[in-house]
Amino acid sequence: MCGIIGYSGKRAAMPVLISGLKKLEYRGYDSAGVALATDNGMLIKKQSGKVAGLAELVTTDPQHEQLSNAHCGIAHTRWATHGPPTTDNAHPHQGPLGKIVIVHNGIIENHNALRERFKAEGNVFKSQTDTEVLAHLIEAHYEGDLLEAVTKSLTEVVGTYGVTCMAADEPGVLVVARSGSPIVIGLGEDETIVASDAAAIITYTRQAIYLDDNDIARIEGSQVDIHSLGLGAVTRKQTEIDWSTDAAEKGGYDHYMLKEIYEQPEAIKNTMRGRLDTHRGTALLSGLNLSPRELVDIQRLLIVGCGTSMNAGLIGEYAVEDFAGIPAEVEQAAEFRYRNPIVGRGDMVLAISQSGETADTLAAVREAVEKGSLVAALVNVVGSTIARETGRGIYLHAGPEISVASTKAFTSQVSVLLMVALKLARANRLSREQGTIISREIERIPELVELVLKTNDQIEEVAKHYASYDNCFYIGRGYMYPVALEGALKLKEISYIHAEAYHSAELKHGPIALLEASMPVIAMLNKGPGQDKSLSNAAECKARSAPILGVITEGDEEARSACDHVIEIPDCPHYTSVIPATVALQLFAYHVAKIRGCAIDQPRNLAKSVTVE
Ligand code: G6P
Repeated sequence: MCGIIGYSGKRAAMPVLISGLKKLEYRGYDSAGVALATDNGMLIKKQSGKVAGLAELVTTDPQHEQLSNAHCGIAHTRWATHGPPTTDNAHPHQGPLGKIVIVHNGIIENHNALRERFKAEGNVFKSQTDTEVLAHLIEAHYEGDLLEAVTKSLTEVVGTYGVTCMAADEPGVLVVARSGSPIVIGLGEDETIVASDAAAIITYTRQAIYLDDNDIARIEGSQVDIHSLGLGAVTRKQTEIDWSTDAAEKGGYDHYMLKEIYEQPEAIKNTMRGRLDTHRGTALLSGLNLSPRELVDIQRLLIVGCGTSMNAGLIGEYAVEDFAGIPAEVEQAAEFRYRNPIVGRGDMVLAISQSGETADTLAAVREAVEKGSLVAALVNVVGSTIARETGRGIYLHAGPEISVASTKAFTSQVSVLLMVALKLARANRLSREQGTIISREIERIPELVELVLKTNDQIEEVAKHYASYDNCFYIGRGYMYPVALEGALKLKEISYIHAEAYHSAELKHGPIALLEASMPVIAMLNKGPGQDKSLSNAAECKARSAPILGVITEGDEEARSACDHVIEIPDCPHYTSVIPATVALQLFAYHVAKIRGCAIDQPRNLAKSVTVE
């Protein structure tokens, strides 16, 4: 949540900071700002609104030349937590004398107490943010050594932070620190770029160090010294980021979301590469680090996650119970962490998170570890906190996902979950022959997605009929129930249409009261167990004048006749049909949002990575 970038080196810092902010904008985009160490001292420019506005501001600013000549600076794009998205609340924030300037992700929980203390000392605050309080604290400790001042300050704060600071008296020096909010240090030649995620640094370098919680680093040009708070100097492993720069750009598509929808066949192939053994009818998931003997001991799978990742988990629940015959449960990560969950011997907790940084999912992981559970994670971002804290799991290898609305991460998560279910099943009752059949079907998923992508124009046509409604229902049963949940989530996130998903059977227990001609129903009617019941449910909706958009199996005339409009998906088993059906609903949501003129890649109020509770 929020994006941070900092630069120290030989280049002009400003273009690095502005282009970095553009790459990070998906993390938050309600206001943005930059601070540069110039020959005329520290200059700060910030304003509410998006990064493009800030870029315009700095180019037309009377101090443009000084700003452009600076070689060290920090910048931030904000997702408001404390105080509305005004210019005053935008980062960077300064101490009362302007000696210290900082950008910060996370939440300082004891900011009220600290603010009262400083107010009593006569300090005046310009913003409502917790971050400004931290700037005052650092300045209060500052005696000419920024590293020392930040170190002392961080021992007094409660909460989470990824923070980057500069001092007016130490131009060229950055101090960065993390606790609960990621910081990656990009190591260039004669320069260092720090950021809240790798997307902002890969244009300049692929050599990176991910800070651990409680790490603090002093950076000056290419000199990077890392300390652990209270423990002195430490060495952190250097890693190579394997994302291509193209992967983090739009590549000719109108939106990142569309690009990422189209990347799905490749992303899923990357997810599955080397992991499916169709000969032995199983999956090779070495990151789980569990032998068949240990797999057999798993008697229940507890899946935790938030948002789209939780929806993927719900499909995993069906697959694990279906293939492996062991119980699986999905729980919203925040609920899991706070309700003192019962996690026993024989349970494995599987955390799912694209970013690997979601605060509630991370806390659920910590709770599960505390309870002595076997914990594994399914994560996309390599080196993220959840990946590191579980130390056991499966990387998605889906490539960077920039669009706030998750698409390729979801289908990659589901692909992995099908493989996890297969692996667990083979360690239990599933025969090699049955395993081979399932693994061959999983192997076909990228091809199924390609076929759906080819129907993009038809889906766009269908979207025109549904773009002007204000409300709609999605319904599905069995494996298609979570697909309905995910379809509704996509539509509401990017088009702002009020979309609610219900189990098809649940509609009659209340929601049906809302059906009328202005309430379309998007019904999952593809072939599979329960299709006959789903067709009856669609007929019940139609009888109440609701327009019906059916997701049906290609060529299924009976299903087509139950609908006003259809989106067709290829014929495949119900357990893999979840993926082509979801891709069809992603395209539907995309086109509806586009027709409505919505900011597809940056929907209002959302952020890509939710690092606050
Ligand atoms: C935010 C994003 C969603 C995402 C959820 C969980 O709400 O906007 O797209 O599904 O966080 O994120 P994670 O990174 O843990 O999968």
